Amino acid sequence: MTTDSLSNLMDERRTFAPDSGFAAAANVDAGWYTAADADREGFWAAQARRLSWESEWSSVLDWSDAPVAKWFVGGRLNVAYNCVDRHVEAGLGDRVAIHWEGESGDGRTITYADLLREVSKTANALVSLGLRAGDRVAIQLPMIPEAIYAMLACARLGLVHSVVFGGFSPTALRSRVDDAQARLLITSDGQFRRGNAAPMKANTDEAIAGCASIEHVLVVRRTGSTVEWTEGRDVWWHDLVDGQSDTHTPEAFDAEHPLFILYTSGTTGNPKGILHTSGGYLTQVAYTHHAVFDLKPETDVYWCTADIGWVTGHSYIVYGPLANGATQVVYEGTPDSPHQGRHFEIIQKYGVSIYYTAPTLIRTFMKWGDEIPAGYDLSSLRLLGSVGEPINPEAWMWYREHLGGQRCPIVDTWWQTETGAIMISPLPGVTSTKPGSAQRPLPGVGARVVDDAGVEVGPGGGGYLVLDKPWPSMLRGIWGDEERFRSTYWSRFDGFYFAGDGAKYDADGDIWLLGRVDDVMNVSGHRISTTEVESALVSHPSVAEAAVVGATDATTGQGIVAFVILRGGQDAEVASQLRDHVAKEIGPIAKPRQVLVVPELPKTRSGKIMRRLLRDIAENRAVGDTTTLADSSVMALISSGLNPAE
Ligand code: WTA
Repeated sequence: MTTDSLSNLMDERRTFAPDSGFAAAANVDAGWYTAADADREGFWAAQARRLSWESEWSSVLDWSDAPVAKWFVGGRLNVAYNCVDRHVEAGLGDRVAIHWEGESGDGRTITYADLLREVSKTANALVSLGLRAGDRVAIQLPMIPEAIYAMLACARLGLVHSVVFGGFSPTALRSRVDDAQARLLITSDGQFRRGNAAPMKANTDEAIAGCASIEHVLVVRRTGSTVEWTEGRDVWWHDLVDGQSDTHTPEAFDAEHPLFILYTSGTTGNPKGILHTSGGYLTQVAYTHHAVFDLKPETDVYWCTADIGWVTGHSYIVYGPLANGATQVVYEGTPDSPHQGRHFEIIQKYGVSIYYTAPTLIRTFMKWGDEIPAGYDLSSLRLLGSVGEPINPEAWMWYREHLGGQRCPIVDTWWQTETGAIMISPLPGVTSTKPGSAQRPLPGVGARVVDDAGVEVGPGGGGYLVLDKPWPSMLRGIWGDEERFRSTYWSRFDGFYFAGDGAKYDADGDIWLLGRVDDVMNVSGHRISTTEVESALVSHPSVAEAAVVGATDATTGQGIVAFVILRGGQDAEVASQLRDHVAKEIGPIAKPRQVLVVPELPKTRSGKIMRRLLRDIAENRAVGDTTTLADSSVMALISSGLNPAE
C-alpha cells in the first residue's frame, strides 16, 4: 500500500452502529467475547457440538507438539455426513441446498436429498476406481455442481482432495499433482467463459502427461466439445457415476484425518500445499459462517461469489454453508457475462439475502456505474461481506450505499488459506463497523499487532499481524515439508503465528489490515508470489534477469509490474510476448500488467534486489533512499532508459 492510501485509511473516522432490529434477532451477542475469554476450550467445545460426532473427543486441544495442533483429540466424525446426510435425516431433504446458475442461464435446483444421492453415487464411483482413505485426488473443474459432489465424495471416503483453480496452467497443475502424488484427476471437457467454450481436458492432458501417480481421469461433460481420449485411463463421469447406487454408508474418521490440501503462493517459487484436517476445520467454518453471516438457514439465501479453487470457496461455499444447512446460490460465470448487471439480476432472481464478495469486484462495479445496481430490486439483501484484500473506505461506502441500501451491516473478514476460516471480522448486530477495518478477532480467536521484536504495539501503533493462540481450523502443516511450515510461520516470532500481513491499531484498539509485508502480491484478491512470476520470466529464452513488484492498482488492489533485462540481441518488442509467456506458465491471473525492459536492476551489495525502489518507479513516485545500493547510479540508468512496453 502506498503511503498516501495508508494515511487516507488512518484518517477514516466514520462508524456505523448496528441496527437495533438486526441486533435483537442476531445469532450472536457481545457475551460471546466474554464467554470465549473466560473458557476458550469450553467455547470451542460448544462450537464443535454444532456438528454431529460419532464419538466425542477426550480433550479439546493438544498443543504439546506445537506448532502442530491436535483439536478434538480422539473424536470421530464424517465431514460429508455433517454437510449432507444429517440434514436429510432431520427432515430437511426438500430444502434447496444449491440454486446452481450456469453462465448461460441454464440452472439446476439441488435439494439436500438430491445432494445426498449425488454425493453417494460419486462416492461409490470413487470406491469402484480403487481409491482408499488417505489417497489424494486432484480436482480441476469449473463452478459446476459436480465440483461440489466430488469434494464431498472425497470427504465422505476420507480421500484428500486438492482442488486446483481452473485458470491455472498445465505446468501449475502438474506441479500440484506431482507434489501430492494424486491417484485420480477429476476434470471436465471444457468450461464456459463469457459465452465461449474453452478447453479444459486438453490442458489437464498436457499437465499429467507422464505423471506416474495418476491412474485415472474422471471427466465431466460440460461443454460437449471433442476431446482426446486415453483408453484405460480416462472415464466419463456420466458413464461411471450415473449408474452407481445412490446410497452409501459413511464411515467416521479421526478428527485429525486430512481433509484437503490447497496450494497457495509463498515467498519462494514453489507453491505450498496447505494441509487441513477434519474436526477442527469443520467446527470453525460452521461456527464462523453462523456467527459472521448471521445465517438463518430457514429463510436466508446465501451467495459467496468465490471460485471453489480458492480457500473461500472451500470454506464458505462447500463446508461452512452446507454444514449449517444453508440454501445458497452457486454461479458458474463471470460478473459481466452476458451483461454487467448479472450479479444483481441473480440477487433479484433468487432473493439473495447474504452476499459475500471481494473488494476488487466492488471496485469494478463502481467503475461500471451506479445506475446498474439501481436497475434491480436488491431489497432482499440484509448482510454484505468482503474478503481477500483490504477494502478501501470508498469501496466500503459504495457497497453499503449501492448494494446495502444503507441498511445492511458489512462484515470485512480477514483470514487466509492457512487459517482455514475467518479470524478477524466485525460481528453483525454487535460491532459498530468502520469502513476499511476488519476490527476484532472473533470470539475464541487470538490476534495482535506486534513490532519487530514481537512486542505488542499500543493504540495507534503499527507492525505485524500475529495469531497468538492456536485455533481449530489452523493449518496442520505444508504437505511434505514440515521444515518449511516451521520456518515460514513460526520462526519469526517466538510462539506466535506470523501471518505475513502488516496491520495497525486505531485509538479504539481496532485492527486495520495494511497488506502483505512479504514478497507476496495480492492481485484481485489472488495471492501470487513475486518469485513465481520472476522464475516464469527467466524461463523464457530472451530474459537474462527479472524482478517483479506489486504496484498499487485502483481496481485490482495490486498490479504486477515486471522489470526485465534481456539477453544480448533481443529487442524490447519481446515485452508483450513475455506477458503471454507468464500467462502460459502460471495462468492468466499472473499476467503482468506491464513489462519494462531495463539495462540494470537495483541491488544491494549482497546482491538482493531492492524492490522498494522498483515499486517507486512502477507507482510513478520519486525514487526513495538509494544509499544501500551497490551502485547508486543504477536508478538513473533505469529511469532514463525505460521502455514503457505494455
Ligand atoms: C489478504 C483469502 C485485508 C491478506 C481468504 C491475507 C485481507 C491474504 C483480507 C490471504 C481482509 C484476506 N482485509 N486483507 N479482509 N482478507 N486478505 O490465502 O493479505 O487467498 O494474508 O485467503 O489475503 O489470501 P488467501
